[in-house]
Amino acid sequence: MNNSVNQSIKPVTTKINSSNHIEIGGCDLVNLAKEFETPLYVIDEQTLRKVCKEYKQAFSLYEKVKFLYASKALCTSAITKIISDEGFGFDVVSDGELYTINNADINMEKVLFNGSNKTEAEIKLALKYNIGRFSVDNFAELSLLNEIAGNYNKQAKILLRITPGIECHTHEYVQTGNLDSKFGFDLSQIDEAVNLIKDKYTNLSLKGLHAHIGSQIFETQVYYDEIDILIKELDRIRREHNLTLNELNIGGGLGVKYTESDNPPSIYKIADIIVNSIKNSCKNYNYEYPTIYLEPGRSIISTAGVTLYTVGSQKQVPNGKKYVAVDGGMADNPRPSLYQSEYYAQVANKPNQSCNEKITVAGRYCESGDILIKDIKLPTLEKGDILCVYNTGAYNYSMASNYNRTKRATMVLVNSGHSDMIIKRESLNDLIKNDIIPSRLNK
Ligand code: LLP
Repeated sequence: MNNSVNQSIKPVTTKINSSNHIEIGGCDLVNLAKEFETPLYVIDEQTLRKVCKEYKQAFSLYEKVKFLYASKALCTSAITKIISDEGFGFDVVSDGELYTINNADINMEKVLFNGSNKTEAEIKLALKYNIGRFSVDNFAELSLLNEIAGNYNKQAKILLRITPGIECHTHEYVQTGNLDSKFGFDLSQIDEAVNLIKDKYTNLSLKGLHAHIGSQIFETQVYYDEIDILIKELDRIRREHNLTLNELNIGGGLGVKYTESDNPPSIYKIADIIVNSIKNSCKNYNYEYPTIYLEPGRSIISTAGVTLYTVGSQKQVPNGKKYVAVDGGMADNPRPSLYQSEYYAQVANKPNQSCNEKITVAGRYCESGDILIKDIKLPTLEKGDILCVYNTGAYNYSMASNYNRTKRATMVLVNSGHSDMIIKRESLNDLIKNDIIPSRLNK
């Protein structure tokens, strides 16, 4: 079976060029660092488009499939345009994501709104934009959505988010489908929810079920189990409520390769398992094939992104570690400190030098836990070297902060030698633009 982008640590266009520098998307990383300054997020357009095409190709044997990019992984106007251009819709979880996507002129029928505590204002905005689907997470939301939709004279098309009771072996913080989870209806609550929708909530139209079992998943059996549970529920709802639902959203979660020791299955393998599971379960329960929604986030955007840093100070602990500090860290990539995530890096201006020193890459933030990479072997580093950390496209910028009152970094899109800024670095003025000094303090 073919390999796919999520199985590679580096963007597909990564090369060493004639200046002996690393190049991505036809752009020399050392030049990019000079032109745009660091820290710098770089997104390779070809890698992003390739992975979208792989998803489409991998699922081409199942006609009724719809792809919704989980925009929480990285939501910017330019990225949204590219992913929409590849035929994907969007899974959103906030008014900010909704607004960004609507503003990029996307067909809002292809948007699904997820989340366990949507606000009234967010629901109103989503109804105003006429989005395609709401995934409803709990009883309070059923009632709220029904009420607001009624006020707008609209019928909201919904999926019920359920917790199928599957534990996948990923970090506890990114597991979502196990029974003790803050997300979704328990299986035992589905009947009550269906009855409410049928008998009382006349402004809601139930289309199907939704589950998402976790993120950075390497196992394949979990998808098999998830699909069987969902189709079994569809069959039960058909029998017990005389209601045939024909949509299933099976979430996202496919893992990527951050370091050599990661071994995620390919998109083709996952597609094979998902499609076979659906066919098997539908056969077993004598159910017509439903429309399947997939919500990948990380596996779409992670590999396309790298972050460039400039090397600064160094500290050798006597008889201990050598720390090399860079000009970014937990504010542009909080994942190592939040999830102990590991990353691979190379020196953009020394790609061929032997990796003779084991060092720890420290962030610049005033926090001992701000370590980007523990114990990585790299060539001897000097001040001014450009470090390229791979696989930072997903959940880096989207979880970035202004910690220590630093400016969030620039993002540049590269393709065939073009480098276009798609997010501007914040300015010092941006940092204070929402500050207010009460007049009584100025007396
Ligand atoms: N659908 C739902 C309902 C989700 O909650 C998520 C992610 C996705 C889809 C997309 O999952 P993906 O394909 O990206 O694995 N900040 C964490 C990841 C949190 C994921 C939250 N939900 C991290 O940096 O690892």
